[in-house]
Amino acid sequence: MKWSFLGLVLLLATCCQALPYFEVLITSIDNPAGTLANGQPCSHFGFVGAGCNMVLAAGVSSNFEKYPVNRTSVLNSKYERKLENINVLVGDAGTYGNTEFRGFILQINLLLASDTDQVIDSYTIQINTTQQTGVSSYTSQRDGTLPTTITFAWSTDIPPPVVVSTTTSVPESSTSAFTGSTTAFTGTTPAPTTTPKLPVDCSEIEGLTASSQQTIYPDGVTAVQVFCDVKSYGILTVIQSRDNSDSSTDFNQTYDSYTQQFGNPTAASNYWFGLENMNVLTNQKTYTLLIDVCCGNALSSRQIYHSFKIGASSTNYTLSATADLPGIGLDYSSSGKDIGAQFATHDRYILPTTKDSCDEFDYVSDDNKDVQPYGGWWFGSCGNNLNGALISNTAAGTCSISSFAGELGVNLRTTTGTNADGWDVDLISYNRVRMAIFTFDSLLIEKSDDTFCKN
Ligand SMILES: *[C@@H]1O[C@H](CO)[C@@H](O)[C@H](O)[C@H]1NC(C)=O
Ligand SMILES: *[C@@H]1O[C@H](CO)[C@@H](O)[C@H](O)[C@H]1NC(C)=O
Ligand SMILES: *[C@@H]1O[C@H](CO)[C@@H](O)[C@H](O)[C@H]1NC(C)=O
Ligand SMILES: *[C@@H]1O[C@H](CO)[C@@H](O)[C@H](O)[C@H]1NC(C)=O
Repeated sequence: MKWSFLGLVLLLATCCQALPYFEVLITSIDNPAGTLANGQPCSHFGFVGAGCNMVLAAGVSSNFEKYPVNRTSVLNSKYERKLENINVLVGDAGTYGNTEFRGFILQINLLLASDTDQVIDSYTIQINTTQQTGVSSYTSQRDGTLPTTITFAWSTDIPPPVVVSTTTSVPESSTSAFTGSTTAFTGTTPAPTTTPKLPVDCSEIEGLTASSQQTIYPDGVTAVQVFCDVKSYGILTVIQSRDNSDSSTDFNQTYDSYTQQFGNPTAASNYWFGLENMNVLTNQKTYTLLIDVCCGNALSSRQIYHSFKIGASSTNYTLSATADLPGIGLDYSSSGKDIGAQFATHDRYILPTTKDSCDEFDYVSDDNKDVQPYGGWWFGSCGNNLNGALISNTAAGTCSISSFAGELGVNLRTTTGTNADGWDVDLISYNRVRMAIFTFDSLLIEKSDDTFCKN
């Protein structure tokens, strides 16, 4: 005990310019139920309450600045119900830098040692505190069985670890380094707030039974309002929505605006989830994209795209997906497709400006037409723009627009090949459209469900 304390003192004394480093020491885990998250016993002796042999995958992020990165430790629990003196350290090299410490997120996954696909418990613990050191415990309530509890301590501004081994098992005496920090919170600092894992999309919101506006946390921390559409066949997270009964939200925005969310996420509204949110969310899970377009109260087209992903800002938010029906919509191709295209707006246009059919999008008329470009999109084919201008005077029943000149409206190719006039667009401007993502089996989607067009 003395020795390791002396070592720490020596380290501090010799290392003058130590970078700030943040660490959490996980000290004990109480898993008395001896069951997996799905309620099944961990072992054949679960009936006598034998605990689970666990693997711990944990990560920490100070000041909520990034996703915690896992480090994994094998905990040979010997079927114990409570593991004490675990003393696993998880660290984060001081991302809070010179700014004030505001707290951290600790992510913990307890997995079955013999089969790490089997989850015993999984939670994200958010601690909002300005206290430089402290201890806390978190209890995960589990319906119908006993809860698990985890105890941990944290410290800021300590030197980075010199030796990193795969299963850093700090001698039990090292808890002495935290003796000064075991004071409980006083009234002057905010008490730690512990939250269960926050929903990243609508399907993770517990007990959601009715379509409604909800708060989700695409990056695990930042709250975003979205519309969640609860269907008999699954829950949809709506990421884009247009409706010409409401002209209050302008979609003729700059590139910077499109990186963020704007509009109002209600049932049929004008709403954009934001490219940053789309990037963060679609890179966490495999999503399927559903596009609905309506003319009047009729569903004109329903298109499905598998493995829908939006790339990072460094790729200009490139869209990737595979189309259920090749050759139409985002998979329509003239000299390029929207699948694989970068996002563009008038102030950051990426396609060549010499392509006639893109006049309405690229803000450059190469044939002296009176173009009224609008919106932002992944203009790969120049056949689609769900963020185009909402045109109210389209032909009743068909939503067709009479002329190629002027505004092109809200476009989506529902046919292959060039249209009769030789252009890449259908010359139809839809008056209600929506993009929604989901994780359930797309075969469950009811192809004729037109409730979105009717309400
Ligand atoms: C951490 O590990 C768990 C369990 O293996 C895994 O489900 C999770 O995706 C990992 N998280 C990261 C950020 O790697
Ligand atoms: C905790 O901090 C996060 C990130 O700053 C913030 O979004 C959240 O509202 C805070 N929670 C509470 C209960 O103060
Ligand atoms: C992103 O777009 C800009 C123009 O706005 C361009 O300069 C840059 O090369 C593009 N990035 C990629 C990866 O193509
Ligand atoms: C969209 O915005 C651009 C840039 O401000 C402008 O040139 C264009 O006319 C606008 N489109 C419409 C249809 O108003």
